[in-house]
Amino acid sequence: MENERKKIVVSGMRPTGRLHLGNYWGALKNWVDLQEKYDCFFFVADWHVLTTATEKTEAIRENARLMVIDWLAAGLDPQKCVFFRQSEIKEHSELYLLLSMVTPVSWLLRNPTFKETLLELHKQKYKGQEDKAKMAEGASKKLLEAHAGGEEDLAVTSELSTYGFLGYPVLQAADIVMYGADFVPVGKDQLPHLELTREIARKFNRVFGAGLLKEPGALLTQAPMVPGLDGRKMSKSYNNSIELGEAPKSVEAKIKRMFTDPLKLKVDDKGHPEGCVVFAFHKIYNKDYAARETECCGGTIGCGACKKHLFELMTPSLETFAERRAAYEGDPAKVDALLSAGSAKARAAAAAALSRINKSLKL
Ligand code: TRP
Repeated sequence: MENERKKIVVSGMRPTGRLHLGNYWGALKNWVDLQEKYDCFFFVADWHVLTTATEKTEAIRENARLMVIDWLAAGLDPQKCVFFRQSEIKEHSELYLLLSMVTPVSWLLRNPTFKETLLELHKQKYKGQEDKAKMAEGASKKLLEAHAGGEEDLAVTSELSTYGFLGYPVLQAADIVMYGADFVPVGKDQLPHLELTREIARKFNRVFGAGLLKEPGALLTQAPMVPGLDGRKMSKSYNNSIELGEAPKSVEAKIKRMFTDPLKLKVDDKGHPEGCVVFAFHKIYNKDYAARETECCGGTIGCGACKKHLFELMTPSLETFAERRAAYEGDPAKVDALLSAGSAKARAAAAAALSRINKSLKL
């Protein structure tokens, strides 16, 4: 009986709008594979956006929709997994509150993501104000060496350092333990948050009852490196990305612009595939990329032909994505209906979890 029950997977993404191929290969592709094997809960972490940005909140809803359309385009199937908006399941906020009662602030002050993001926000805010920027740097050094209860630093003096922002990982822990996750698929950058989730769960169990919350394990995504067109990391803010649902024609033009080995000018020049963006993509889309490496290094293929070949390899999946996308684009009601149906399932699971947890609190 025991092994009939599928393991549970939980993961979330902050809604940033349309996704790019870096998001796809880095996370989404993995979700699509996981839905076949596990009971999966995937959600739009819209409350998490508020922890660092409280302006233009009206964009969050639309960005969530655009992102979910890309989930569907990539092959997430509402028949196989549950997906929903975090803010539609109020139970997340209740559990977040309860978890906050056992979470020492010192754990949160040590969170590397908090420290890095706070410094980044501070720099953005004081851009062009040299002395203040320096002050931010100085404070950040202190912050990096920060000891709980130590001297004043950004974490305790900056108005950017809100209670909600500091509590980001507590909300994330609530998202995860709510559904009794066995595994959380994440990138390396999220490991500190997952470790905090485990520590919070352990502490909660110690205080309120053994076995109340399950400690999740990380499912590290083995993601290929997806560079942007210019060779830096693919990122919206670098303006170097290829969107997941991008029209093949436009992708073709972008491939032509991709950064290649600057020393390879003629077809028979010997190339250096290691720094070449086109080759990085061949590694993902071309099963026989080793042969291409030999050809490039031997000067038996030119960059033009190599790019053309890459486009041919990418076209089938681009077409599939674009087709699925078309079924939802321009029909926000359809996307919202899917999200609501997902919410109903998530809410049932969340309500059951909270009633169990609340019983042990004996309020
Ligand atoms: N912090 C995650 C990120 O930025 C998003 C997230 C929120 C999440 N809650 C989660 C991821 C729960 C996994 C599980 O990517």
